[in-house]
Amino acid sequence: MLRLNLLEETRSEKSVVNVYSNQETASKSVAKRIATLIQKKQSIGKKTVLGLATGATPIYVYLELIRLHKEEGLSFKDVVTFNLDEYYPMQPDAKQSYVSFMNTNLFDHIDIDRENIHIPNGTLNENEVAEFCLAYERKITSYGGLDLQILGIGRTGHIGFNEPGSAPNSSTRLVMLSDITRRDALRDFGDKKDVPTKAITMGVGTIFKAKQIILMAWNKKKASIIKKAVEGELSSEVPATFLQLSENVEFVLDEDAASELTHLMVLKKSK
Ligand code: F6R
Repeated sequence: MLRLNLLEETRSEKSVVNVYSNQETASKSVAKRIATLIQKKQSIGKKTVLGLATGATPIYVYLELIRLHKEEGLSFKDVVTFNLDEYYPMQPDAKQSYVSFMNTNLFDHIDIDRENIHIPNGTLNENEVAEFCLAYERKITSYGGLDLQILGIGRTGHIGFNEPGSAPNSSTRLVMLSDITRRDALRDFGDKKDVPTKAITMGVGTIFKAKQIILMAWNKKKASIIKKAVEGELSSEVPATFLQLSENVEFVLDEDAASELTHLMVLKKSK
């Protein structure tokens, strides 16, 4: 693993960037950190509050957490989770829902108390959404805030579903999905007309309040947006750039996703 101390001539000095040879090793290391946090808090009788993401990116983290539960006795009894987002409208039992995703990829295989799971509700009437979003924020606060938020990144630079134009202090709310994001969702929905146009998402501000934030990205197709997120000017056009302002953010990348970072290129040239 390369720990990159970011070069002075870029804006990215504040963000820690860790590059792994592949997503499996990177994911194992993230899962290990989550497990250590859970066990540390358990040992002092405290709950761990995790912010979770869906999509392709965290799949291996969840697989490893399941393995740690089944083979090494990691318990999720004292874990409370808040998912970043859900499509709107969306029925929880639909196969594309983030409720189904989380059940299939994590919750059905661990000993978490179902009452401790929180995922934005895609079944509300529009006039109920604002109150739901406020309550979601209050609930996170009532547990003492998120201990650790894991994130993927969309090709638009979204985190959660905070698409370009999102404000740094935005909170949980109903948003419109960008065309690129809806096209990327075709792998789950098949037909563009079936991809929801909206979603309920935690805000950039909600994410920002987490005590630790780990943004993961794999593959070449994430390389250019990762370069923007890590090195680019702060801009609501690439909401992930706001993470540069946090002292608690770490970018965990595979070599392909990191391949356009100036630092990596400089290191390669100097080898
Ligand atoms: C998912 C989420 C999104 C994804 C992003 C990347 O809950 O909030 O921001 O993390 O769209 O998706 P994948 O991982 O499928 O490339």
